[in-house]
Amino acid sequence: MNIRTIDWKNNSVRIIDQTKLPQKLVYIDIGRLEALCRAIKILQVRGAPALGAAAALGVYLGVRDYPGSDWTGFHSKLKEAAKYVASSRPTARNLFWGIERVCDVALKNNRHPVSRIKRIILSEGKKIMQEDISSCRKIGFYGSKLLKHNSNVLTICNAGILATIDYGTALGVIYSACAEGKKIKVFSCETRPLMQGSRLSSWELYKQGVDVTMIADNTAAALMAEGKVDLVIAGADRIASNGDSANKIGTFNLAILCKYHKIPFYIAAPKSTFDFRIKSGKDIKIEMRGEKEVARILLKKDIAPPGTRVLNPAFDVTDHHLISAIITDKGIIRPPYVKNIGRAFRENKCV
Ligand code: MRU
Repeated sequence: MNIRTIDWKNNSVRIIDQTKLPQKLVYIDIGRLEALCRAIKILQVRGAPALGAAAALGVYLGVRDYPGSDWTGFHSKLKEAAKYVASSRPTARNLFWGIERVCDVALKNNRHPVSRIKRIILSEGKKIMQEDISSCRKIGFYGSKLLKHNSNVLTICNAGILATIDYGTALGVIYSACAEGKKIKVFSCETRPLMQGSRLSSWELYKQGVDVTMIADNTAAALMAEGKVDLVIAGADRIASNGDSANKIGTFNLAILCKYHKIPFYIAAPKSTFDFRIKSGKDIKIEMRGEKEVARILLKKDIAPPGTRVLNPAFDVTDHHLISAIITDKGIIRPPYVKNIGRAFRENKCV
């Protein structure tokens, strides 16, 4: 399947509108910062690495029409655009990392004319997309070693092609193992409330020819008890220095189930998802989303009496003690995480 989640086309950010899947594969071109931030908020574009690229390109959209040629005025506009993009979603580290990348490159080049700085920002956004493609391939390469021929893998949400530029993190590991000729069976948790597992993961796995079975979220324990799951792999939105990992709500449940059933639980994520400034998951801001996402099936049909109080945290944090290893673009990081995360990214050494 030849699809690309985000691209730069026709002087616009071209994204797949993920709210339309699996019924329709629709691309939309976005040329305004406000429209891009709305697309992020309503999950037309989503998934941590994809958000990193979208955020970087969003900052470019916010500054490209700046009419002046003075650095000071341009810099204020840049900060304003960065702040606006940063307010779109709080949890994925990649989103902030993407903003910081383009702002840093602009600052480093502030001696150049504004027109040139704008081009530099755009090319940094394109570079982020290219780097993400190669990061995902590396994650796939390292992670596939953890999968045996005939492995049964369970995953949650969508950490695949649609959550990155191409290939995916958790699903990239599966694609890589399949490409090596291993027979892999995947269980895709539907992922209430917005069904990224059924709508997106099942869709792309099926299109890629992977043997995928969709399950309701509450089926995972029973499957594990029957010995039908060999390992769980999930993506991450933000990973703290001690390995605590935020991912789609329900990921923590799976990690606890894995511990009980003595099944390995893996997180797959690129370096851009790590937040080295925070010590633990307690410092991760969890996005709270609207009540209607839970109270209505896909925002359409009520499944609760009007006025029912609803709680809708979009993510949870899995304690690092429950994570068997973190599969990264630098290699596989195993506990103790505080020491080994530092080593992997400072010294390029993984165990
Ligand atoms: O709310 P979403 O759909 O953006 O949540 C996405 C996830 O939780 C993914 O698992 C995570 O971003 C990793 S994507 C490689």
